[in-house]
Amino acid sequence: MPMYDENMIIRDARVLREQFIPGRVLHREGQLDAIRNCLKPMLKGMEPRNMFTFGDPGTGKTCISRFVVEELSAHTVSVQGSYINCWECSSRFKILYSILQDMGLSLSVHRKGTPTDELLGNLKKRLEQRCCVIILDEVDKLEDDRVLYDLATLQGACLILISNSETALHGADPRVRSRLASAECLEFPVYSGGEILDILKDRAEWGLLPGAIKNAQLERIASASNGDSRVAIETLRIVAEEAENQDLRMVHDSSIERALPRAMESSTERNIDMLAPHYRLIIEILESRGKVDAGKLLKEFRKLSTQRGLPDVVDRSFRNYVDRLMQLGLVRAEGGGRWRSYSPEVPGAHSGK
Ligand SMILES: Nc1ncnc2c1ncn2[C@@H]1O[C@H](COP(=O)(O)OP(=O)(O)OP(=O)(O)O)[C@@H](O)[C@H]1O
Ligand SMILES: [Mg+2]
Repeated sequence: MPMYDENMIIRDARVLREQFIPGRVLHREGQLDAIRNCLKPMLKGMEPRNMFTFGDPGTGKTCISRFVVEELSAHTVSVQGSYINCWECSSRFKILYSILQDMGLSLSVHRKGTPTDELLGNLKKRLEQRCCVIILDEVDKLEDDRVLYDLATLQGACLILISNSETALHGADPRVRSRLASAECLEFPVYSGGEILDILKDRAEWGLLPGAIKNAQLERIASASNGDSRVAIETLRIVAEEAENQDLRMVHDSSIERALPRAMESSTERNIDMLAPHYRLIIEILESRGKVDAGKLLKEFRKLSTQRGLPDVVDRSFRNYVDRLMQLGLVRAEGGGRWRSYSPEVPGAHSGK
């Protein structure tokens, strides 16, 4: 008798993880082609084009960028890839160090004692032998945008910058902006319910055993995910693990209804963490006060942002911040004109429950 029973639901748990890069990606042909076209000149020893990709959470920016870079580095030995999440790795030193590591350079340097410019020199030399596509994810989380200038001026390096916000680089140093002015801008629009369903079906097919989940259940998850592929896949992971732990052969509807708000909540928390401080401050005020009218919200926002030493913002930017939070489903508005008020959005409120 085997010591452990065989899995009844999950065929391959890796496929359900967020970081997993699938063997094929769906409904992003335009973005795939655009990224491939920017990288293609590298194959002929010519200069590639840098890219700036932006879009709401769960629109596939990280997945599609990594997919194309893996595809290219599998195709040729003359190009390799490096992925950096600037949320986790935000200083100039750490970024350069991490790229060098990804390029296979075992650094004899003592981590702390090496001057950053020496790392840059090493990278320059290394790039003469082999080109590198560098993905800088969550690029608005960089501590120091000088590193963008460093990397954008290096021969043999191609940048794919990723952000939730189209205006992420507007505040960057003018020299950085001018270096990146010719970058290809690529938008990742929110997925439709049907597109999410296709992505989900693919994951279920590879990740779960046949018959583990019904089509109608995948449809329910897709329509409740509001176009966010991360929420959809996370829900699938939660229900599959729950069923597996309970030795079931099929996912239950009630498990899906429990998992959806959990997946949405963890996605909301992540989305708030990823926001710039001004946005987070608005959420914080609304969470502590509940419903607040527009004038009071602005006054409180001004007071706290000064106390915390955040840069001043004009009224129009403040309104843009609030609009963006509404777009992201984090803030809800009621009434119009002078009577407009705002409150924090409850995760899952629009999931059709
Ligand atoms: N077109 C697609 N085909 C297959 N899987 C996809 C596709 N788009 C997204 N996914 C999957 O959905 C999940 C979320 O996608 P991803 O992490 O790329 O979103 P994102 O746009 O980077 O979000 P964020 O801005 O929050 O970082 C990942 O597990 C990814 O593999
Ligand atoms: Mg991402």
